[in-house]
Amino acid sequence: MSVDTITKSNDVVTEDFLPLLGTDHIEFIVGNAKQSAYYYQSAWGYELLAYAGPETGVRDRTSFVLQQGKVRLVLTSAMYPDSDLAKHHNLHGDGVKVLALWVDDATKSFEETTKRGAEAVIEPTTLKDENGEVVISAIKTYGDTIHKFVERKNYNGAFLPGYQAKKSSFDIKPIGLKYVDHCVGNVELGKMNDWVKFYEDVMGFKLLITFDDEDISTEYTALMSKVVSNGNGYVKFPINEPAEGKKKSQIEEYIEFYKGGGVQHIAIATDDIVATVSELRNRGVEFLYVPDNYYDDLLDRVGKIEEDIEPLKANNILVDRDDEGYLLQIFTKPVQDRPTVFYEIIQRRGAKSFGKGNFKALFEAIEREQELRGNL
Ligand code: FE2
Repeated sequence: MSVDTITKSNDVVTEDFLPLLGTDHIEFIVGNAKQSAYYYQSAWGYELLAYAGPETGVRDRTSFVLQQGKVRLVLTSAMYPDSDLAKHHNLHGDGVKVLALWVDDATKSFEETTKRGAEAVIEPTTLKDENGEVVISAIKTYGDTIHKFVERKNYNGAFLPGYQAKKSSFDIKPIGLKYVDHCVGNVELGKMNDWVKFYEDVMGFKLLITFDDEDISTEYTALMSKVVSNGNGYVKFPINEPAEGKKKSQIEEYIEFYKGGGVQHIAIATDDIVATVSELRNRGVEFLYVPDNYYDDLLDRVGKIEEDIEPLKANNILVDRDDEGYLLQIFTKPVQDRPTVFYEIIQRRGAKSFGKGNFKALFEAIEREQELRGNL
């Protein structure tokens, strides 16, 4: 059913009713936040920044806030079995609940999006402590995921009111993580265009690029993907849906185990992907395997690159190209027991969008893992 391959949006200049300053933080609901926080500190080199829990007067949860570069993660666990948090974890397993966006005006962000049809989750609320005040609000997106708007211009505490500053208790070695490049959502069959329309109509995003099932298919499985981006390009959300194939696609596997749509992967930018990935490997983080023959004709496919091929091959790092330059990328294996959320490490060398050359290699790699899990 392939009609076109790549469709770029027309650049129409209109007023941005939802100006975003970037990704504020990403909150995971996990089974054991204390142990997850140790994994992100020791393996990924995040510094502990803040904490909320019984010791700080919060009774129903514990939250650890971690930071490296501009990437800020919040890891939250429920303290009681009958809370919404505990129900979320029981249903979805470890996963992303909140994609929080940094804004100048959380009240206006809420009003502009809800008047365009967003479902409200948190009405604009001012939180205060001795370090100032933060305004937050939130709307629903796919699955049980929400977008929280965070206005922090009048705040100079560690994270948010209600959290206490807390430092790592051992020596942390960062690995060069800079910022969140994009966050990908998986949605159910036939729902991709509805969510693209949501981001266009409700949040003022623009369609950046479309990949159809012919671009993203292997012998067995296929998926479709559309990438939406906000006005200044700081926030990119690719949305995937499964497509018909001979076997079960990775998106179907995700939806089966996450019990609905949700965040599939978070891509984090580095300025030196070989150094970042080889250090992650040394610390036990597992990546998808790509066969050596991927590298045989690499330069014919992507043209001249500045990196040596050998360290890319040794680390299984992929290279792709768009109109403006090239990019290097790699996927981890899922980072929890269910085959759901994983990470991408990405280094951009001029490319601002996404190529399509790597999909086949990546998805064949994912299929090999699916087969090992008995889910292909
Ligand atoms: Fe990605």
